[in-house]
Amino acid sequence: MVQRITLAPQGPEFSRFVMGYWRLMDWNMSARQLVSFIEEHLDLGVTTVDHADIYGGYQCEAAFGEAMKLAPHLRERMEIVTKCGIATTAKAENVLGHYITDSKHIISSAEQSLINLATDRLDLLLIHRPDPLMDADEVAEAFLNLHQSGKVRHFGVSNFTPAQFALLQSRLPFTLATNQVEISPIHQPTILDGTLDQLQQLRIRPMAWSCLGGGRLFNDDEFQPLRAELAQVATELNAASIEQVVYAWVMRLPSKPLPIIGSGKIERVRSAIESQSLEMTRQQWFRIRKAALGFDVP
Ligand SMILES: NC(=O)c1ccc[n+]([C@@H]2O[C@H](COP(=O)([O-])OP(=O)(O)OC[C@H]3O[C@@H](n4cnc5c(N)ncnc54)[C@H](OP(=O)(O)O)[C@@H]3O)[C@@H](O)[C@H]2O)c1
Repeated sequence: MVQRITLAPQGPEFSRFVMGYWRLMDWNMSARQLVSFIEEHLDLGVTTVDHADIYGGYQCEAAFGEAMKLAPHLRERMEIVTKCGIATTAKAENVLGHYITDSKHIISSAEQSLINLATDRLDLLLIHRPDPLMDADEVAEAFLNLHQSGKVRHFGVSNFTPAQFALLQSRLPFTLATNQVEISPIHQPTILDGTLDQLQQLRIRPMAWSCLGGGRLFNDDEFQPLRAELAQVATELNAASIEQVVYAWVMRLPSKPLPIIGSGKIERVRSAIESQSLEMTRQQWFRIRKAALGFDVP
């Protein structure tokens, strides 16, 4: 069974692995097939699901909601995360992609997410990307409104720098529950730029997106040396695959990230969660870091 983890002081309890629904429209599942997939990952203990208003050209939430209408009892078994704050040209009214964090937009986006997802509450709402025009007081006003109306239980951010995180936190009477950021051997900046240090300091768990580089880790020639090192460590740890080693590498970080799984194949979800029992040594961790970066750390 997947471990449970408290996301932050006074934060919600999530499954250590989260099911990501960004690619849902690529999976070509009927609503019935999606119900089966959801049931399968819930049975494995992956109870937290990650969405965003814009996923699939604004279609993923509603597709998930169609499945939830067929099986509404599943809502009690899951925690729903979604995001707002990006506008894309998938909507005709947007002449270009841009960020949008004014109070009115945050409230209306969250309310639309509730309708799309066929639920009366969101467990966690994130601001998707830092917005150069973000007025932290306005975001706080929207968060308080959504909290007081019972529509959203917890709030967080995604892809924020420590300074942006601190700014928004300074305006809120409650603790931000996470910063959802990219963490992978092929994308390591957040590990040393202060992002994960801030979260560790505050005992807030990051959520980690694209741990497998969106699949590029398996395909791109440039990552061959990394794949070779991951395979070597997999043998040493008796792991079934290099993906399991990648997840163990991400979870070895002391800020305790929650990996978000991006695959629509249940056998890959099952395999991913087995990595929680792998214990990676410090030297194995640094060998993988070195193989990915292509140079030794000083
Ligand atoms: N906050 C943000 O800004 C942000 C940004 C991006 C993503 N996210 C969240 O993070 C989640 C995960 O991101 P992600 O989808 O990029 O995760 P990922 O796990 O890095 O990539 C998933 C992709 O890798 C493929 N894959 C998995 N195992 C493979 C293997 N052994 N060989 C070849 N391909 C393999 C999957 O294909 P199959 O489906 O065929 O297995 C899928 O296309 C998203 O769903 C979303 O919820 C958040």
